[in-house]
Amino acid sequence: MAELAIRGGTPVRPRGYPAWPVWGEPEIRAVTEVVRSGRWGGFPEPGPRAAEFEAAFAAYQGARFGVLMANGTITMEVALKALDIGWGDEVIVPALTFVATAYAPMAAGALPVIVDVTPETWTIDPDLVEAAITPRTRAVIPVHLGQQMADMDRIMDVAERHGLAVVEDCAHAHGQRWRDRGAGCIGAFGSFSHQSSKILTAGEGGSLLTNDEELARRAHSLIDCGRPKDPEERGYTFGANYRLGELHAALLVAQLARFEEQRAEREAAAAYFEELAPQVPGVTIKPRDPRITRWSFYNYIFAIDPDAFAGATNHVVAAALEAEGIPAEVQYPPMNRYDLFQPSRSKLPVAVEFADRLDPARMSFPVAEAAGLRESVYLMENTFRAGREGIEDVVEALAKVQKHAHELEGLAPRA
Ligand SMILES: Cc1ncc(COP(=O)(O)O)c(C=O)c1O
Repeated sequence: MAELAIRGGTPVRPRGYPAWPVWGEPEIRAVTEVVRSGRWGGFPEPGPRAAEFEAAFAAYQGARFGVLMANGTITMEVALKALDIGWGDEVIVPALTFVATAYAPMAAGALPVIVDVTPETWTIDPDLVEAAITPRTRAVIPVHLGQQMADMDRIMDVAERHGLAVVEDCAHAHGQRWRDRGAGCIGAFGSFSHQSSKILTAGEGGSLLTNDEELARRAHSLIDCGRPKDPEERGYTFGANYRLGELHAALLVAQLARFEEQRAEREAAAAYFEELAPQVPGVTIKPRDPRITRWSFYNYIFAIDPDAFAGATNHVVAAALEAEGIPAEVQYPPMNRYDLFQPSRSKLPVAVEFADRLDPARMSFPVAEAAGLRESVYLMENTFRAGREGIEDVVEALAKVQKHAHELEGLAPRA
């Protein structure tokens, strides 16, 4: 008789974890008011709710300006365009992230140059950033992945010495602070996603933060079909409609009011997880950088050693945890595994000029490959909103899966 739920055994936590998103009367009221107002769209840009959210989120995170738009992919495209980055330019991105981080430079017309991450944090390796710089390099997009932040001291140092712009991909990092400066407020721009699963969500949406008034103006113009945003300016510049509607903006205003309490709850639960999880053989918690002075995360990412799990890799272990009732998955493959770069799926690698630069067969990212294909397991944010007992169940399930890992043999690596 099998013990593991994935093989028919009894799950550790059949009742599951709290739902996401959390909503109630404030959200219903906010949306109803917009419906009744008849002003649903994002034009004229910004609408009143969009402007309210932009100011409130920028203040919470610690930036001077916020620009709300359709999602957290075009935020990065707009940031690069606002920085005048495009055709012929190169933008350095990490090998372990959602594909959007590499797509955005291409959407702006630039070449993404992918570099590996560090084994300590699985965020972009500053030494490899420096080594990848060419005369065409204009920007770097560090990603604050999971509960970690990229080493912003080193990234800013490299960027300043080489005259590069920094666009922080903060899709996971609402609320994070580095040496008391908010994520997304250190580089030229910070890019945030408000897509359904993210910790500050309206279902869809994205924010750019910046401390530079001129960059904020350009971003507003780019998302509003190029309309001038300076009263002195005349005529249109280059842009498209990337506005977000007022219904979404109203939801974001209501969600922001809940954010700090949710963040603190996740922080306390994750600290407890870090206390308990190292007891499980083959589970490694990556040290938290003391320069992170306010901790927040979207998913929490830890490492497993497949040797301690009878050879099972991260996908199988995550599927086994899911079966035990623990919300776990593996989110990101190494960048060279994304369809975007596969010759059979995409025309990109055969584009003449980029042939040698975007050919996945020529890419090698040992750290991101180990993380994405064997070691990284992501716990969803709601795991951290079920108190200490919710965490104890995660650790019990992990220990159970490890103890009975021989039952995982024969399961396909991608469940
Ligand atoms: C690291 C990272 N960057 C960018 C994005 C893109 O955000 P959106 O889905 O809002 O376009 C995501 C969302 O999954 C992400 O995880």
